[in-house]
Amino acid sequence: MADALPKFNRPWLYPKQLDAIFCEERYGLCEASTKSGKTVGCIIWIVEKAWNGSEGQNFWWVAPVFPQAEIAYRRMKLFLPSWVYKPNDSKMFLRLANGAMIWFKSAEKPDSLYGEDVYAAVIDEATRVREQSWWAIRSTVTATQAPVRIIGNIKGRKNWAYRLARKAESGEPDHHYAKINAYDAVDAGILPLAEVEDAKRQLPDHIFRELYLAEPGDDEGNPFGIQAIRECTVEAMSDDKPVGWGWDLAKSQDWTVGIALDRDGAVSRFHRFQSDWEFTFQTVLHKTKKLLAIVDSTGVGDPIVERLRRDGGRNFRGFKFTPASKQQLMERLAVAIQNQEISFPDGVITSELESFEYEYRNGSVRYSAPPGLHDDCVVALALAVMAKSNARVFSGNLQFENLKRASYWKRY
Ligand SMILES: Nc1ncnc2c1ncn2[C@@H]1O[C@H](COP(=O)(O)OP(=O)(O)OP(=O)(O)O)[C@@H](O)[C@H]1O
Ligand SMILES: [Mg+2]
Repeated sequence: MADALPKFNRPWLYPKQLDAIFCEERYGLCEASTKSGKTVGCIIWIVEKAWNGSEGQNFWWVAPVFPQAEIAYRRMKLFLPSWVYKPNDSKMFLRLANGAMIWFKSAEKPDSLYGEDVYAAVIDEATRVREQSWWAIRSTVTATQAPVRIIGNIKGRKNWAYRLARKAESGEPDHHYAKINAYDAVDAGILPLAEVEDAKRQLPDHIFRELYLAEPGDDEGNPFGIQAIRECTVEAMSDDKPVGWGWDLAKSQDWTVGIALDRDGAVSRFHRFQSDWEFTFQTVLHKTKKLLAIVDSTGVGDPIVERLRRDGGRNFRGFKFTPASKQQLMERLAVAIQNQEISFPDGVITSELESFEYEYRNGSVRYSAPPGLHDDCVVALALAVMAKSNARVFSGNLQFENLKRASYWKRY
């Protein structure tokens, strides 16, 4: 039957895209700028492989999470003429007219990736895929000795894709390495220069470098700067009087953390616990006393903050997290750390700060802990920085600034 089908006509790819993805080697690693055509190039590649494959053979497209695999699935359906394939939307695969099947999978559960024989695989956004999933995918191409394309943005140095790219770059046999930056994509005519320049103006330098120039920063995707964190680290907590508190309330599996800063910006109180709401409420109320406290009022935090304001006083202020408000809060914390306006004791606060990451999605930067790690201390510290900058000490009496400026608070 395959003989009766037309030959696959490879669409135009720009030279660097072609070299990166249609290389001879079995493993093709491509570190590239956002919007440089990684996904499009690999869609073309895997369709070509599958079209030249045969009945019953499996081809895999693997993305870090399900919605990303779904995007590629939808794009491929748009890209191919409809007579070429039959889609199975619930299982997310396309059966091509030659009987080959292209599956779209999420890398979230490595165990679900074992067991199949795969004839070509793409790992999209590989720097966000867990290493165990890579091992699983690797096992599926063993019997078939099939080719794999591993593509993505740079995301620090602490991931398997970065390490494998370094091996490929240093000439590991059967590995091909390519790097495409945003200016290559501009030269190729698929990305407007103005867009890149706009991103350069808007994004912090190290983020722009990773996302658009495909160059890792020294801070492994850390928005505060590892060196800056170390410069703010002290051996012991201050025992001076606090001037303002930040409280991050535990949601399902995380911790409630309260951090207070003294007049010099040193952490002088620190509480971290997991307990029921009543205990949490009482602790926040009694530790904070009459000082300004900014309390996470997102979701279930909202009624707690209301009760704190009723029973404790108007020194309790709610802060609602949205991607935008979190970004602002974290950028303020980054400035405080980079200018050494604050200091904190070595331990859980520093380790959370060091593992904290940023992520670039849908055109904006999101700040969070890596999967499986916590960021409650980082959040509490950021809220404490905000509280401190809104509270001033005058001869032992506390005076609130800005509290009357309702518009300021309404932003959050
Ligand atoms: N060979 C090509 N011919 C024409 N347009 C292309 C080609 N390759 C990429 N493009 C254009 O560039 C856009 C971005 O491509 P693509 O989504 O593959 O980039 P990416 O590197 O995967 O980006 P992201 O960082 O969002 O994952 C596509 O929507 C398409 O418009
Ligand atoms: Mg992509």
